[in-house]
Amino acid sequence: VRTVAILGSTGSLGAQALEVIERHPGKLRVCGLAAGRRMGLLADQVRRYQPEWVAVAGPEEAADLRARLGAEVPFRLLWGDEGLCEVAAAPADVVLVTVVGARGLAPTLAAMEAGRTVALANKESLVIGGGLLRAALARGGGRLLPVDSEHSAIFQCLRGTAPAEVQRLLLTASGGPLFGRRLEELRDVTPEAVLAHPTWRMGARVTVDSATLMNKGLEVIEAHWLFDLPFERLAVVIHPESIVHSLVELADGTLLAHLGRPDMRLPLQYALFYPERVAGGFPALDLGAAGRLTFLPLDWSAYPCLRLALQAGAAGGAWPALLNAADEMAVEAFLAGRLPFGEIAGVVEAVLDRWGGAPAATLDEVKAADGWARRLAAEVIERR
Ligand SMILES: NC(=O)c1ccc[n+]([C@@H]2O[C@H](COP(=O)([O-])OP(=O)(O)OC[C@H]3O[C@@H](n4cnc5c(N)ncnc54)[C@H](OP(=O)(O)O)[C@@H]3O)[C@@H](O)[C@H]2O)c1
Repeated sequence: VRTVAILGSTGSLGAQALEVIERHPGKLRVCGLAAGRRMGLLADQVRRYQPEWVAVAGPEEAADLRARLGAEVPFRLLWGDEGLCEVAAAPADVVLVTVVGARGLAPTLAAMEAGRTVALANKESLVIGGGLLRAALARGGGRLLPVDSEHSAIFQCLRGTAPAEVQRLLLTASGGPLFGRRLEELRDVTPEAVLAHPTWRMGARVTVDSATLMNKGLEVIEAHWLFDLPFERLAVVIHPESIVHSLVELADGTLLAHLGRPDMRLPLQYALFYPERVAGGFPALDLGAAGRLTFLPLDWSAYPCLRLALQAGAAGGAWPALLNAADEMAVEAFLAGRLPFGEIAGVVEAVLDRWGGAPAATLDEVKAADGWARRLAAEVIERR
């Protein structure tokens, strides 16, 4: 039985990971759960899966969970970032990191220092601390497995391919719910319209980021760290059907593509069982039903967030952390009705423009850059 700790179990991906685990009784077992504030749902999960470790956002949430469960289930209850890191480093066979945002970096680092196999969905941690994570992975001697569908697709295409044969990686992007509409038309689009993603059901932040293509920018930075390729060898192609999850271009011009239904349970299952590929009872992709597959070149002018992300990624240092923090703040303000959709990129750009430059070689330095960017983003949002 492989034991699994899920950080972010009450979220969209966390719930899908639990569904995968339920499909494999006797092969996968939950040993740790961590969530933020949805204590009713977490209490149900704790009752059902009986983990040994549980972490929540803070002491109030811990008291709330205790009150809901009483002495019903014996488990170690932790909270805050320290608690999250403790669950991350607990002796699980696989640590699945599906918390959202920059908060994912510290527990991912903790799991890697402890030499765990980390199945990473939290792209933000690689974006803001890629160098730190690579060093921790080398020290800890564990393994890093991608869960993001594009990176899982590339990872699968690369099996059996020598690094010297790889020319470029092509990440596909659906274009999100607003694809095809001009930037000027999108200024005042509502959160409801943005959250109606045509092909994927995801948490709020990643869905908004999919509409601005900031998500694709973060994924390119993630690919840079995962696959150790420079930015000029990472490309984005628009593919609205989300059937081809990404491609690898080889030295002779051949493209290897990964095709499948847009269902995150598949890359989750692949990571949880790696290196084994198991049947999970999911239907295979029906190509006849999928119909026409389209690919379009990227219209850079329509996606300023993607341009900013690629510039920040190539610049390195603290730039990706600033980009991510400003975007998290802007997306939160947009979802709360405090910022028009069309101004998300402007907030991110205003923050990047003001950065004087400082290193981001340690976790504290990354946190300092992140905090600076959040404070400035809050001011910029307030002024707008
Ligand atoms: N959803 C997808 O299909 C998808 C696909 C590819 C990659 N990803 C990536 O996976 C990550 C998760 O995405 P998602 O869509 O699943 O997000 P989500 O639905 O918003 O879930 C986020 C999770 O993080 C938890 N969390 C928040 N604050 C926390 C804290 N202080 N301590 C512990 N846990 C905390 C939340 O708990 P509460 O809800 O209880 O507060 C929730 O369980 C993101 O980095 C995203 O980019 C997602």
